[in-house]
Amino acid sequence: MNTIEFANTGVQVSELCLGTMMFGNRCDEAESDRIISASIEQGITFIDTAASYVGGETESILGRILQGRRDQLFIGTKVSETTDAAWIRQSLDESLTRLQTDVIDLFMIHWPRQQMDIPAMMETLNDAVVAGKVRFVGCCNFPAWLLAHCNAVAQENGWAKLVCNQIPYNLIERGVEVEILPQAVAEKIAITVYRPLLMGVLAGKYQPGEPIPEDSRGYTDKRAADWLARFGDGITQFYQFAADRNLHPAQLAVAWVRNTPGVSNPIAGISSLSQLQASVDAMQVDLSDEEYAEVTAMFDTAVKEESGGKFVPLRRATDLVAS
Ligand SMILES: NC(=O)c1ccc[n+]([C@@H]2O[C@H](COP(=O)([O-])OP(=O)(O)OC[C@H]3O[C@@H](n4cnc5c(N)ncnc54)[C@H](OP(=O)(O)O)[C@@H]3O)[C@@H](O)[C@H]2O)c1
Repeated sequence: MNTIEFANTGVQVSELCLGTMMFGNRCDEAESDRIISASIEQGITFIDTAASYVGGETESILGRILQGRRDQLFIGTKVSETTDAAWIRQSLDESLTRLQTDVIDLFMIHWPRQQMDIPAMMETLNDAVVAGKVRFVGCCNFPAWLLAHCNAVAQENGWAKLVCNQIPYNLIERGVEVEILPQAVAEKIAITVYRPLLMGVLAGKYQPGEPIPEDSRGYTDKRAADWLARFGDGITQFYQFAADRNLHPAQLAVAWVRNTPGVSNPIAGISSLSQLQASVDAMQVDLSDEEYAEVTAMFDTAVKEESGGKFVPLRRATDLVAS
């Protein structure tokens, strides 16, 4: 497993991050334990979770199954619901208790909210770092300008800055190519990617034109059927491209994400141990520029902009600031 420096923190983490949103959901505690053991064996040191997963039960499971191995891992969790200072403090303490740890490596704001008090939010996050409850702070789902705004407030006050942005990114959902990935490159923000498999739709489990398998997330989440209907031709080509190269479709999908400049860590959102290997193997797949372009072209999903001309590529350029 490759390791990389997480943003500019000086801390090394595994390139592949293990997502735990299915722990206590589609996989029980025993299977979660097996997934954690196998992940550590494969060199994964970065674990992603959130206070909101299964109403806190996912963190509680992690707290139990990480006993004796917590120190080997870099654990990120999130405060959901609101960004109010009192709630951030309460949610953090609850996460520390459930995770049975004294310190959280990465504490993230899960979603932006309306009418956020940014100075109060950033001061509260900084207080958590100063108190030693948190090593680094970050965010998820933040537009580029909002992350820059938060870090400008932090800079003015000498507070801890947001070091990462966790965002959805895959061959179908490509909005972050505009401004978020370029910002990350210029400012050394770590980009951790959720939904790299489009909830499994790019993992070979679903066949365009066929019924949704009952043992899949797509059976209860209707987005899968929508994506299959809209992108079925591309998905069929994508499966063929993978088969021609002896790659698992999930391996190719995660590899495409990791080959995008600006992406730091794809997050493997597996729901059973048998699904782990394809994402681990993706870390060994370096697509050539031609292969990357060929796979990308299977889906007409680049963000459409009306302006045309020179402005469109500028919003995606990752080389505007000297490195
Ligand atoms: N910050 C945020 O707002 C946010 C939001 C969502 C997720 N996340 C994080 O990101 C992680 C990943 O998100 P995600 O679960 O939506 O990602 P995903 O990778 O797009 O989807 C994971 C699903 O793909 C299927 N899958 C995975 N590997 C497979 C394989 N080898 N073969 C066949 N199917 C495979 C499984 O579906 P089945 O279960 O149907 O088999 C699995 O549940 C989560 O665990 C969580 O930590 C963060």
